[in-house]
Amino acid sequence: MTILITGAAGFIGNNFCHKLAKNKKLNLIGIDSLNNYYAVKIKRHRIKRLLKNNNIKFYQINIKDKKKLKNLFKKYKFDEVYNFAAQAGVRYSEVNPTAYIDSNITGFINLIKLSKDFKVKKFFYASSSSVYGDLNNFPLKESEKLNPKNFYGMTKKLNEDIARNFFENYKFKSVGLRFFTVFGEWGRPDMFMFKYLTAAYYKKKFYLNNYGNHVRDFTYIDDATNILLKLRNKSIKKNDIYNISSNNPIGLKQILSFFQKISPKTQIVKREFQKSDVYKTHGSNKVVIEKTKYKKFENVKEALKKTHDWYFKNKKYYK
Ligand SMILES: NC(=O)c1ccc[n+]([C@@H]2O[C@H](COP(=O)([O-])OP(=O)(O)OC[C@H]3O[C@@H](n4cnc5c(N)ncnc54)[C@H](O)[C@@H]3O)[C@@H](O)[C@H]2O)c1
Repeated sequence: MTILITGAAGFIGNNFCHKLAKNKKLNLIGIDSLNNYYAVKIKRHRIKRLLKNNNIKFYQINIKDKKKLKNLFKKYKFDEVYNFAAQAGVRYSEVNPTAYIDSNITGFINLIKLSKDFKVKKFFYASSSSVYGDLNNFPLKESEKLNPKNFYGMTKKLNEDIARNFFENYKFKSVGLRFFTVFGEWGRPDMFMFKYLTAAYYKKKFYLNNYGNHVRDFTYIDDATNILLKLRNKSIKKNDIYNISSNNPIGLKQILSFFQKISPKTQIVKREFQKSDVYKTHGSNKVVIEKTKYKKFENVKEALKKTHDWYFKNKKYYK
């Protein structure tokens, strides 16, 4: 069985590749553009570790490049495709929307169309909790009428609309994964936790948005990838959608006070609310639990402690 994973040098894609690579019957092909949205050295190191498995190959390919992508599909005849390649980040989407059009729209269309044309059996793609915008009917269910608040969320909603269109027009089935603030080992340096830890260990100022009054449904990476492994073995009905969330919203202030007890003190500069942000995220994970029977979510304090301890050992990549 041959599987394509895009965004294989990224946080979620890379962690998922590691889990898949344990199954030596699988032949894995990882691709990534290695863009410089955040430190490329972290991405290169993630790939270096991954290539210690002998059932994975890596290619530096941009999913915007239809020709290269088509050649890859011709060469490998993929059974399954997992699309984690995207321009992530909410605030950056207001600064550089073109990057989101290239990766999240053009790249996504290339990938889903090739997957349909080459008769890929399972097509999974990363959507985001950002598709909900400021809806507050918590916990948010998959059936909610979507209302993204920023350009990033709009591109993810469009992915879901395209996936629906591919099912309605071609009966091409897919699974959209609405991730809720994923954190943990090999996490993203542009996200809250590693930004804070980097500020603490490298004695920089830490800018705390909305005076720390945000609430997020933080989801531990191991839970997210374990759920994906389970979903991989389940049937797909149509253009299915799942929240990938812990269903356990926590205030940023609580996370900060946890980290402050175990890491060096740093200067925290409180900032006002940033326009493109949402105040709170909280997703119901009932549908995905029913489908996968995954119930053993990591205890939050344990997950935070593991994240901190991992960061401490690997902080040189985040300098
Ligand atoms: N981390 C989260 O909390 C979170 C939450 C919601 C949704 N998501 C989505 O999950 C996916 C993975 O997120 P992540 O946190 O691992 O982000 P990430 O930025 O670490 O990983 C994305 C990877 O895709 C690569 N990439 C970007 N554009 C590309 C292109 N055109 N061609 C090939 N590669 C390209 C990047 O170089 C990067 O390595 C993304 O689609 C993201 O939008 C993540």
